Amino acid sequence: MRAVDQEESLSGDPTNRVVRASSKPQPTSFALTALEEDRTQADACHFACGGLSLPIQPWVSYLHREDPPLNHIDFDDFASFLRTIRLHNPRGNFYAEGRRKYEQLLAYLPQIESATAKLSTKRQLVMLDAGCGRGYLSLLVYAYFTKVVGRQIRIIGIDRNPKLIKQCRIAAKELGFDQLEFYATDISMFKLDEPVDIIYSLHACDDATDQTIAKGIELKARYILSVSCCQHTNRTSMRRHPMTSVSRHSVFRERLADMVGDSMRALILEQRGYGVKVFEFATSGCTPKNVMLKAVRDTARKVDIDASVAHYERLAEAFHFRPRLQTLIEEL
Ligand SMILES: C[S@@+](CC[C@H](N)C(=O)[O-])C[C@H]1O[C@@H](n2cnc3c(N)ncnc32)[C@H](O)[C@@H]1O
Repeated sequence: MRAVDQEESLSGDPTNRVVRASSKPQPTSFALTALEEDRTQADACHFACGGLSLPIQPWVSYLHREDPPLNHIDFDDFASFLRTIRLHNPRGNFYAEGRRKYEQLLAYLPQIESATAKLSTKRQLVMLDAGCGRGYLSLLVYAYFTKVVGRQIRIIGIDRNPKLIKQCRIAAKELGFDQLEFYATDISMFKLDEPVDIIYSLHACDDATDQTIAKGIELKARYILSVSCCQHTNRTSMRRHPMTSVSRHSVFRERLADMVGDSMRALILEQRGYGVKVFEFATSGCTPKNVMLKAVRDTARKVDIDASVAHYERLAEAFHFRPRLQTLIEEL
């Protein structure tokens, strides 16, 4: 049983209440769909985008790549899918911000997929989307795994904005995505009584990125994927440091805060048993907030923890700064 009923969790302030998702495994009802007719790739692009063939191309290429061979996707479904998740308007064109978001999703999806390649195919995968917003990423990830790859998956999206969660639930219901659940809750207040394979976040604002990483550590997630957004708290906290000649320019102040903040998060993750890669998951044209932290548990054995601690302390001292993540994990 869920400790908090779905409707109840949509009323009032959801941010200071513990929300717990049940661990009861449920069957997946979404079967693989076959291509109705043998459409060419170009037709498929044209159809799915209402005449705009370019944006769909990366998705199509991704689905049609040869290694591993993938099942065909039903592009009728795919066009209505983009409408249902509200990236497309009813005429089949992208909403103003829809195209860029879609490109971000296409860049993010392979990172999730590569993580799942190392996980058992014999059981349901469990993923958590922290700060899911309108749920675009999870709706796409769920569609991809159930309709294209044919893997059992359960995804839980959480966001503290109840209005967005309501929209997410409507879309998931319309699509028949019955193992895709959404809860209105603060990330810090969310509890789950079963192991999580992957926790991910895309542009979780300010310290929601720290909350995501802390939740991943708390739940012992095998993978933690995080792409931060505005790091307002970090920026305003880093005032005294040796690089003020650089950070007096606001554009550099922002970049410096991003770099120092993400470096310290990566070091904390290493000290908690994760191996971490930091890289650009998408082009800066797709999003200027394009740096991903991809952490995998148990690969930090090769990491020199003493060196990691020393790096962390040096940064903390030089920038007079402790990331929120440090406080959060001390409270675990
Ligand atoms: C910029 S939006 C990104 C949404 C989505 N991940 C995407 O890429 O479309 C950030 C979301 O994080 C949510 N958020 C911020 N802090 C949060 C917290 N502490 N707990 C839960 N949600 C949070 C906001 O409500 C917002 O919907």
